[in-house]
Amino acid sequence: MSKTEFDKPGNFLYPLPAVMVTCGDDKGNSNIITIAWTGTVCSDPPMVYISVRKERYSYNMIKESGEFVINLPSEDLTYALDRAGCTTGAKVDKFEDCGLTRAESFKVSAPSIAEAPVCIECRVRQILELGTHDMFLADVVSVSVDEKYLDEKGAFHMDRCNLVAYEHGAYRKMADTIGTFGYSVRKKK
Ligand SMILES: Cc1cc2nc3c(=O)[nH]c(=O)nc-3n(C[C@H](O)[C@H](O)[C@H](O)COP(=O)(O)O)c2cc1C
Repeated sequence: MSKTEFDKPGNFLYPLPAVMVTCGDDKGNSNIITIAWTGTVCSDPPMVYISVRKERYSYNMIKESGEFVINLPSEDLTYALDRAGCTTGAKVDKFEDCGLTRAESFKVSAPSIAEAPVCIECRVRQILELGTHDMFLADVVSVSVDEKYLDEKGAFHMDRCNLVAYEHGAYRKMADTIGTFGYSVRKKK
C-alpha cells in the first residue's frame, strides 16, 4: 500500500456529527448555529465540547450565558442543519427561517429544538482559546429524547432516529450496521 501525504496538515477526522447548537441571552434572544467541531470528551462526568469562531453571532451568547444545547439532526432536518450554518442570527430569526420550533429545555435557559430527536443540554465549564476557534468545554446537565423513539418498555432506539453524519463537506445518511460494540470478541453461540 502506498500513501501520499498532503502538503499541509488539516482537519481530516471524519465522519463526525454536525449538530444544531441552540443558545440564548437574558434579553430573550435565541439562536441556532450549526457546528461540526464537536465531540464527547469524558464519560463521567459526561462532558462534551463545541468549537466556535469568535466572529459568530452565537459566540457571545454562549460565552455570556454559559449554556447551550446540542440538538442532533435527523435526516429530515438536514436542510435546516445546513441553513442554520449559512445564515446569521444577527440578521434572521433562524427558528423561523429554518421552520423549527423553540422548546423549553429541562435544565438550562437556552431553548431546545422541538423537532430534534435528541437534545443535550450543556453548561460551559471552561473556554480554551485555540486559534481560529475557541473550544467550549461543557458538562452535560440533561439529555432528552423524542418519546416516539421509546418502545413500550421505555428503551430508547437511536437507530430509529435516522441521524445524519458529516463527512468532509457532505451530509450523509448512516449506513447499515456492521457490528455492535464488542462483537469482535464476543463468544459465538
Ligand atoms: C456543516 C457546518 C458545520 C459548521 N461547523 C462550525 C463549527 O464547528 N464552528 C463554527 O464556529 N462554525 C461552524 N459553522 C459555521 C456557522 O454555523 C455559520 O458561520 C453560522 O452562520 C453562524 O451563525 P451565527 O452567526 O448565527 O452564530 C459550520 C457551518 C456548517 C454548514
